[in-house]
Amino acid sequence: MENGGVDCGRLSLVSGQAPTPSGILRVDPDGHRPHPPETPMTDLTSLRLSYDRAELRRADLNPDPLAQFQGWLDEAIRDGLREPYALSLATADASGRPSVRTVLLRGADERGLTFYTNYESHKGRDLAQNPRAEVLFHWADHERQVRASGEVGRVSDEESTAYFHARPYQSQLAAHASDPQSAPIENRGVLEARFAELQARYPQGTPVPKPDYWGGYRVRVGEWEFWQGRRNRMHDRFRYAREGEGWRIERLMP
Ligand SMILES: Cc1cc2nc3c(=O)[nH]c(=O)nc-3n(C[C@H](O)[C@H](O)[C@H](O)COP(=O)(O)O)c2cc1C
Repeated sequence: MENGGVDCGRLSLVSGQAPTPSGILRVDPDGHRPHPPETPMTDLTSLRLSYDRAELRRADLNPDPLAQFQGWLDEAIRDGLREPYALSLATADASGRPSVRTVLLRGADERGLTFYTNYESHKGRDLAQNPRAEVLFHWADHERQVRASGEVGRVSDEESTAYFHARPYQSQLAAHASDPQSAPIENRGVLEARFAELQARYPQGTPVPKPDYWGGYRVRVGEWEFWQGRRNRMHDRFRYAREGEGWRIERLMP
């Protein structure tokens, strides 16, 4: 238990310590959790993994970055990674102040990467001022990350409406209850009361209208980067940048 109980899975610690099979909340043979932990949670300096699962060579790359991305995402889904379609979305306001949060990818095609949210949220306000974003997928179990950046536009109202109605009933109500998203509220009771009110107004089975302030954004990707972790921090990185009708591919220093 020298490594603080971090679940190493099939990856080995560089420090040479044996991986522990259990998670952070270790249980002693007598059924008790050790108290306090032997290694303070704040001591992060000895926690490190070696990345040696795969390599990425120039010859392996699909000339089309969307196909490259779809291949990696398919692998992540097939291997049962948890929510591999979740991405970090970085935006900035007009003054350049950045902010980042997780959203779910709901579509990827030649038009771009699509996610759905509240247009009046913090991210929505950023995008109204500065319609550019960078997104990041981190698939830790595959030792991979993908970044993609570009201009952001709203998807059509018809497309947003179709997706809104494809969501579970409760999620449709939550889009109404949580407005304006990102604004302070007094307490959770306010939110729960709104949800109950909406359930009464739109009983299950009746159509819930899509709010005007809710819909999709699409990032039209102008630059992609594919990163594969390698041993000794000598990682493989390739950037695709738009060039005319095609893409210029460059290997980057790790
Ligand atoms: C795994 C995960 C998935 C999420 N998916 C979405 C999503 O698709 N759309 C969304 O608006 N918020 C989603 N959220 C919540 C956002 O991260 C964020 O809290 C919210 O959108 C408000 O962000 P903002 O105040 O920066 O606008 C998700 C959070 C997590 C952790």
